[in-house]
Amino acid sequence: MSAQFPVARPRRLRRTPALRRLAAEHRLAPADLVLPMFVKEGVTEPQPVPSMPGVVQYTRDSLRKAAHEAAEAGVGGLILFGVPAVKDATGSAADDPAGIVQLALRDLASDLGDAVVVMTDLCLDEYTDHGHCGLLTPGGEIDNDATLERYASIAVAQADAGAAVVAPSGMMDGQVGAIRSALDAAGYRDVAILAYSAKYASAYYGPFRDAAECAPQFGDRSSHQQDPANAEEALREVLLDLDEGADMVMVKPAGPYLDIVRRVRDAVRVPVAAYQVSGEYAMIEAAAEKGWLDRERTIDESLIAIRRAGADIILTYWATEVARRLRDR
Ligand code: PBG
Repeated sequence: MSAQFPVARPRRLRRTPALRRLAAEHRLAPADLVLPMFVKEGVTEPQPVPSMPGVVQYTRDSLRKAAHEAAEAGVGGLILFGVPAVKDATGSAADDPAGIVQLALRDLASDLGDAVVVMTDLCLDEYTDHGHCGLLTPGGEIDNDATLERYASIAVAQADAGAAVVAPSGMMDGQVGAIRSALDAAGYRDVAILAYSAKYASAYYGPFRDAAECAPQFGDRSSHQQDPANAEEALREVLLDLDEGADMVMVKPAGPYLDIVRRVRDAVRVPVAAYQVSGEYAMIEAAAEKGWLDRERTIDESLIAIRRAGADIILTYWATEVARRLRDR
């Protein structure tokens, strides 16, 4: 073998942990992680979610404690989902000032102040008895424009209760514009919108439907969420949401849609979030429980992949655990 061969030796920078740390192109930071949290009305104990081991539906009190722990670990944000005791056709608990999310928001605003950004998922599916993301016509189809009025009202109720960021997830046309105008008209010019812009009709939301108790009673969400076959359409949705006033945009799910995360990151000049959804969580937890995957390594790799694809902000059910791990490293 000649003395010059091989000429290039990329392994030089992989030789020791210190070199690898120095040469790492991407890093996770606790501040970029957002923890999704479920808060359930009318229960006295946290309720485990069977398909998401380690995730619970919090009571108001246990939510406060877990939110505090997340903030202490340095997590950047929390996003709240409400599970109301009573559901009806219009999802009236969603904008009731005494609704579970509004009560929880007030608790967190007084407990946490500015330590962490408190956000809310803004949708109707957790609140309607039929489990759909909008109001229905008599024929059982989603009425887009009537739904926008509900979303506008929910946005104002969430802002009244102290949400710093609202995150519309219903994929109705015009939802960001409707919410922006309503917030502005109510004096909430500084409440920001994180738009679930490119949200796919995904099987990976399966476990979430247990957690939020919101499986559609008939049909599915393919008339409003995107077809997994499409990529250009995601960019169109993102650009429309920015025109309507979105401050940040989201791609969801994250892991199976890393190409979309990258394309959105390259196309826009606002923060890009990616949501590592319930099914991504459940798959890794289940395989780890069987001893088929190394749990921590797989979690870390799944997250750095989302970061590498271009996400600035990552929503993950592991946010507190990973933030602690990063801090202790
Ligand atoms: C709708 C909403 C969903 C998720 C977040 N917001 C469910 C859906 O659109 O069917 C899914 C999150 C997850 O799977 O972790 N409110």
